[in-house]
Amino acid sequence: NSDRADTAIAFVYRGTFVHSTQQKALQILKDALLGVDTQGKIAFIEEGKELEKLSQTFGFKTSDITQLAQHEFFMPGLVDTHIHASQYSYAGTALDMPLLQWLNAYTFPVESRFKDLEFARKVYTQIVRRTLRNGTTTACYFATIHTEASLLLGQIANNFGQRALVGKVCMDRNDCVKHYKETLQDSQDETCRFIKELLNKKYPLVKPVVTPRFAPSCTGALLEQLGEIAKNNNLHIQSHISETLEEVKLVKELFPESESYADVYYKHNLLTDKTVMAHGCHLSDEELALFRETGASLSHCPNSNFSLCSGVLNVRNVLKHKVKLGLGTDVAGGYSASMLDAVRRALDASKVLTIQDPKYKTLSFEEVFRIATLGGSQALSLDDQTGNFEVGKDFDALRINVAAEGGPIDLIQDEEPKILLEKFLNLGDDRNIAEVFVAGRKVVPITE
Ligand code: GUN
Ligand code: FE
Repeated sequence: NSDRADTAIAFVYRGTFVHSTQQKALQILKDALLGVDTQGKIAFIEEGKELEKLSQTFGFKTSDITQLAQHEFFMPGLVDTHIHASQYSYAGTALDMPLLQWLNAYTFPVESRFKDLEFARKVYTQIVRRTLRNGTTTACYFATIHTEASLLLGQIANNFGQRALVGKVCMDRNDCVKHYKETLQDSQDETCRFIKELLNKKYPLVKPVVTPRFAPSCTGALLEQLGEIAKNNNLHIQSHISETLEEVKLVKELFPESESYADVYYKHNLLTDKTVMAHGCHLSDEELALFRETGASLSHCPNSNFSLCSGVLNVRNVLKHKVKLGLGTDVAGGYSASMLDAVRRALDASKVLTIQDPKYKTLSFEEVFRIATLGGSQALSLDDQTGNFEVGKDFDALRINVAAEGGPIDLIQDEEPKILLEKFLNLGDDRNIAEVFVAGRKVVPITE
């Protein structure tokens, strides 16, 4: 701990902190002190320690401490491991078709509008504001095929102070909406330009991610190129896998030389320990083993899976295979941009499996809490920086006021922290999120 004392303390909070660790889905620290240094990192988190000693070691004044109220607590920021920023304009509509039809009817026509930078600015500003206010401190975004608009999304996330992975979408195959695709050469060149220009901006919390849309939208040649680009630059990779059975069948037809859907990505060097694949509802145990072997992770997007009638991910089986797992909203296949909704839908999905088979062990709210925070940071290979309140990590946190005036939750007495968390996860909304911090910077309330 003492090596941390070198950096000056910026602020200290005292009260209840809840977070997850590898050992415990829910750890509760009562009447704890958490100090954040001027670099935005957690300098200390101590329960029941003497205040005098701490303030001497870390050199802060006891008058600098902010005391939380009885009905308040801090939790780690929510990590949205899969969200299409470009689809926010039609979120909450157009959920009346299965995936492949839905893409052609709604998604591709809307995404093609992001050639227009003013339209892009409007939608991207809205989605970053909305997700931040709802406690998403880290988001893994799909943009569109347009390089300039994708760079703009990175700029907007940086301006608002959100931690973000941003992907320019790559697709050189589209038989239905023919104007919304790239040539192989353009997709390659523009991906390289996007990566180079985004990295040149040196935004501290925004990274590029190599983004083949999904196997049916890409030729093998493009997948191969993108695998190369990711490998040569040690970049994150994101895509979709095994969301619907129809899609799995199509991939079999398009890539007959591959043994499975996962094998298509594997053969093109797209399954790495920096890969996150959305959905995976219909993956076989062999494919899950391939994820485990390569270190690739899954993003569970239950709202989307229900809304497009795609499938129900068996989370227990994913965890049994020791595959890294995060939660995603998958806007706009998922109609809500809030990760609190994703938490609730994940619990529902798990309960559906229990209804079908009473022997299926339903996920607890504590387990889903971990998947939404620490799990997401692991899925995005960002767990050395974020995901819980370990000393040395960035302070990405939500100050929750369960009894917010005019909010959705009524308290009867001094409920225990565990009950406060459960109520917030099930009933809360942005009115209960008093403050949001990313890397120690207060980003909510949004000041402009
Ligand atoms: N598969 C390929 N593209 C998409 C998309 O935009 N949304 C979802 N849910 N699945 C996809
Ligand atoms: Fe998606």
